[in-house]
Amino acid sequence: MSVLKAAIIGGGHIADQNHLPALAKLPGRVKVISICSRDIHKARALADKYDVLFAYDDPDEMYRNEGKPDIVINCTANHLHYPFTMQALENGCHVFCEKPPAMNAKQARNMADLAQKKGLMLAYNFQRRHSSEYAALQNYHAQGNLGDIYHIKANYLRRRGIPGWGNFTNKTIQGGGAMIDLGVHVLDLALGLTGYQNPTRVVANTYDFIGKTGGKGLKGSWNPAAFEVEDACFAYLSFPGNLSIMLSTSFALNMEQEEAVDVEIFGTKGGAKLYPLSIHTEVAGELADIRFPYLGDVDIQLQNTIAFLDLCEGKPANICDGEQGAVLQSIVEQIYQSAANQ
Ligand SMILES: NC(=O)c1ccc[n+]([C@@H]2O[C@H](COP(=O)([O-])OP(=O)(O)OC[C@H]3O[C@@H](n4cnc5c(N)ncnc54)[C@H](O)[C@@H]3O)[C@@H](O)[C@H]2O)c1
Repeated sequence: MSVLKAAIIGGGHIADQNHLPALAKLPGRVKVISICSRDIHKARALADKYDVLFAYDDPDEMYRNEGKPDIVINCTANHLHYPFTMQALENGCHVFCEKPPAMNAKQARNMADLAQKKGLMLAYNFQRRHSSEYAALQNYHAQGNLGDIYHIKANYLRRRGIPGWGNFTNKTIQGGGAMIDLGVHVLDLALGLTGYQNPTRVVANTYDFIGKTGGKGLKGSWNPAAFEVEDACFAYLSFPGNLSIMLSTSFALNMEQEEAVDVEIFGTKGGAKLYPLSIHTEVAGELADIRFPYLGDVDIQLQNTIAFLDLCEGKPANICDGEQGAVLQSIVEQIYQSAANQ
């Protein structure tokens, strides 16, 4: 298999901290040849840091010149996922796009459709799928040990974690608040265990009391006057076959813990809890809890990058692809619509 040529669009935090280090660990499979960012000096500085040949401030220029890649990794802010992904697909590139897939359901649908039409691969960076706990749980469930899953509680909660930097409170750039930024990660995990279906009913509430009032922050301080998104969102999703998911997420919530990321799964034969992973079942007629003290640490970004390269090479891959991304984005939209109608 030849080495795939890659380009990064958007040279910020996630490009520098996650994607470029992961790509650098896969020299036989992929080589980053271009970095494109809004500021050419920052693009050049990042390119120099990772020994990348070309730097651009305009993706159009990149596609017209010798820096043209086979794959594009879209690391821009949420509102730019759609235009830069569509442009990359139009230019014949596979796309690995950051989460959330897009700003709304129609965009995510169009992205999946264009990838399909062009015969190109599209996937999203929900890297938490590759944690050793989640992988073990998926294997346990695939062997039928949980029976039919009928309810999941998925939480990604922060006590006072409204970021004091970046664009997290700007609705035009982000598309929403805690749900589109944090909740989508645990929604992907829950959907990944239950066949990634579309719900039949969605009921949700969003809140912005703390965001708009202000107060002590644990991730810097924010400006309540410029707080345009939800600081908390609680959603109940009902699926065909009598399956339900309760999704709770917050940037700010008056709770005890500073942060809680946990998923509880309830099946006909057994239940499970993440994180850490535990299984709750019946063994030899007795109630039993199974724990997993020897699960190793996994580089989840590296594993998701490998999954994307596998996908591009036509191999099976555990990754949120264009179709799954369209389902997830449609659910996020239905959550926001339901909350707006309360
Ligand atoms: N998967 C994860 O766990 C995870 C974690 C953090 C961020 N993210 C996602 O990654 C994305 C980027 O987040 P970040 O924290 O790196 O933000 P960031 O602000 O640090 O970086 C965004 C980059 O995009 C560049 N950019 C903006 N406009 C551009 C344009 N017109 N052309 C080219 N480049 C442009 C900016 O200059 C900046 O370098 C977001 O969608 C975010 O949700 C995902």
